[in-house]
Amino acid sequence: MGEKEHLAVPVQERWVEEISVEELARYGPLAEYMRASAKIPGWLRGEEAKAMASLVSSLPDNCVVVEIGSFLGSSSVLLGAALKLRGSGKLHCVDPFDGSGDAFSVPIYNNILEGNEGKPLRQCFHENIHAADLQNWVEVHQGSADEISKSWRHPIDLLFLDGDHSPQGARLAYESWFPMLKVGGIIAIHNSNPREYAKDHNGSRLLALEEIHPPVYTDIHLVETTTFARKAATGESFPH
Ligand SMILES: C[S@@+](CC[C@H](N)C(=O)[O-])C[C@H]1O[C@@H](n2cnc3c(N)ncnc32)[C@H](O)[C@@H]1O
Repeated sequence: MGEKEHLAVPVQERWVEEISVEELARYGPLAEYMRASAKIPGWLRGEEAKAMASLVSSLPDNCVVVEIGSFLGSSSVLLGAALKLRGSGKLHCVDPFDGSGDAFSVPIYNNILEGNEGKPLRQCFHENIHAADLQNWVEVHQGSADEISKSWRHPIDLLFLDGDHSPQGARLAYESWFPMLKVGGIIAIHNSNPREYAKDHNGSRLLALEEIHPPVYTDIHLVETTTFARKAATGESFPH
């Protein structure tokens, strides 16, 4: 593991500690789901979690949200809850559910999963989604991003990329799913902020630098570690 980067498991119940009375009032029912999400080991927290939930609320009716990389379902709970609270749409969770990924992340996944007493990751995910009563809002597609993309036909309103963070893995997921993102749809690339990365863990950062530009994208902005952008053109020159 690189010394400069630590993908630590977030402090459990971070939201219980950090959510203020004002925020509870402002986020209403979502605050409870943010707490539920923060109890599950995951990486979408704080301002970027709020930005993601608020974005889901603004999507068109019956929106299609695709999450590449769900792990134990922490971010899936947040996204699924935002759909449930708005009353329409579906979250599609794409993950092999085998703890695989880039070389930097796999030992961290293994370390977290050791705490589950041998229970399969897919079962843990299922239990976490059911505990939040979000099973009607979430559909699982077990497999890697590129495998699942081959049979995917639904235009996507929000594409959240948080799977393999190696340069090859992040690019493969992007190239596999970019064509299905609607013009006007939003891409959210987690773990893509400017900082020092461990070796071969900077794939999402490189992707944001190399691909997320006008005229293909507008409204490009960073919230904590997540790059958000709206697809404005089909990117005829793609893939390179
Ligand atoms: C960083 S975790 C996702 C965390 C989750 N989004 C959250 O914030 O709670 C990355 C997940 O993507 C999975 N993954 C790795 N390679 C993948 C690929 N090629 N396609 C889809 N998922 C992948 C990993 O096994 C892991 O479950």
